[in-house]
Formats: sequence, structure tokens, C-alpha cells
Amino acid sequence: MKMRRLLVLLLAAAVVCALVLSGCSKQSSSEEPADAETETEAESNEGSVIDYMVLVNADNVLPDGWEEALDITTITNSVGDEVMVESKAYEAYCALKEAVEKDLEGYDKGEVRLELDSAYRSVAAQQKIVDDFTEKYGEDYVKKYVAVPGFSEHHTGLALDLYFTVDGKDVYENEDLVQYPDIWDAVHARLPEFGFILRFPEDGEAITGYAYEPWHIRYLDSPEIAKEITDKGITLEEYLGKTK
Ligand code: DAL
Ligand code: ZN
Repeated sequence: MKMRRLLVLLLAAAVVCALVLSGCSKQSSSEEPADAETETEAESNEGSVIDYMVLVNADNVLPDGWEEALDITTITNSVGDEVMVESKAYEAYCALKEAVEKDLEGYDKGEVRLELDSAYRSVAAQQKIVDDFTEKYGEDYVKKYVAVPGFSEHHTGLALDLYFTVDGKDVYENEDLVQYPDIWDAVHARLPEFGFILRFPEDGEAITGYAYEPWHIRYLDSPEIAKEITDKGITLEEYLGKTK
């Protein structure tokens, strides 16, 4: 009987360890998944398959049934916001984060920690961003940087907006983030090997419809395709042959 209780305890400990290690907790205690909800959603979506190469942009709306098929992980970031992200993309992000933070060890302005600002957004959440940004930055800015609700890649859960902390301080606002091109270079250099691309590159506005966003990366679930797109210096639209 005692032996049986011991086995149960060991099993429970192993499950707890597996859950903790499945997040970015090795790198940052602020990004542990909100386990209970995550596990339940993951189980209920078992077996569903999403198209990681899906194109959602100003001309291509989110496919029907997408959200029902999504396996979502929910984390809390350094500013206390809950962020929902497609689970495979989150695993890849954790590996990216570990690699980039290692590359940036010794950075002259202090220790750098990558953080997730936003990933999956509902249509209502996108509308709130449109409203908030219109008030804060004006309509012209919103046209260049924010998608119309229903047509944002963020609805897929595969688009991730990054920010970072430097020397323990949050660098969060867009106007502050662009002050660190050296950090972005380090992030962008590592994207393809983890299956990500920079989705809105500096000279891509004519094709993507949006201005340069160093923080917005897109998960493709294929390092090979991500590498091809990056090496050729093309956009996802061009890779898929779906330019206007
Ligand atoms: N910032 C990108 C364009 C979006 O809102 O989806
Ligand atoms: Zn974004």
C-alpha cells in the first residue's frame, strides 16, 4: 500500500515537472503558461490540424472554423498582460527566446529578455487596438500599422508581437522599440531556424500593405520555408504567389 502511494506521488511529481518544463519557464518565470486552461483547451483540440502557411492579410479574411481548431497556450508577460498564442508557435518562440538571449549576453545596455506583447487576437480585440491607436497615434498611423478587424494575421494565433526588457526595464511602446535596431538584428538573424519570418520587412510595404514592424514575426512551422523566404528577401505574399 505504501509503495502504491509512493508511486502515485512520483507520478504526480513527474506530471508537474513536465508541465513546467513545457513553457519558457527555464528562461523567464513571468512566462509560465496558465496551465489549467491551456491543458483543457489543448486536449479538446487534439487531432485538429491548422494550415501553418495560411495567408491572412488585407485581401484574405480568416478562414471559417479557424478558431475552433486552434490549440492555444496562454501566458502572462512581464507587464502583467495575458497573451494567447498557438501552442506550436509558442514552443518555437521559447526556443527562439533562449537563443537570442544567449546571443545578446554582454549587450552593453544590460541584460536583454525577450517578451511576448500580443499574439492571438479576436476580432473584438483587434477593434480595440484600432480604437486605442487611433486615439494615441492618429488615423494615418493606424492605416500603416494596424489591420482591419477580421483581416489581421493575429487572428490566426501564428503572428507574434515581441518586446523586450533591457536591464530589467520594459521596452514596450512601438516608438521605444524602434530605438534598439541592434536587438532587432539579433532577433531577426535567428528567426528562420525556429520556423519564423519577419512578416513586415522594411521595404515590403507595397506588397504587405504595412510599414516596417520589427516586432511582428510569423510562425510557419517550417524552418526550410522560413529560410527560403528570408534568403530570397521576399514576403509571404510573394512566396505564396498571392500578390495583388
Ligand atoms: N500590425 C498588423 C498589421 C496587424 O494589426 O495585424
Ligand atoms: Zn503584430
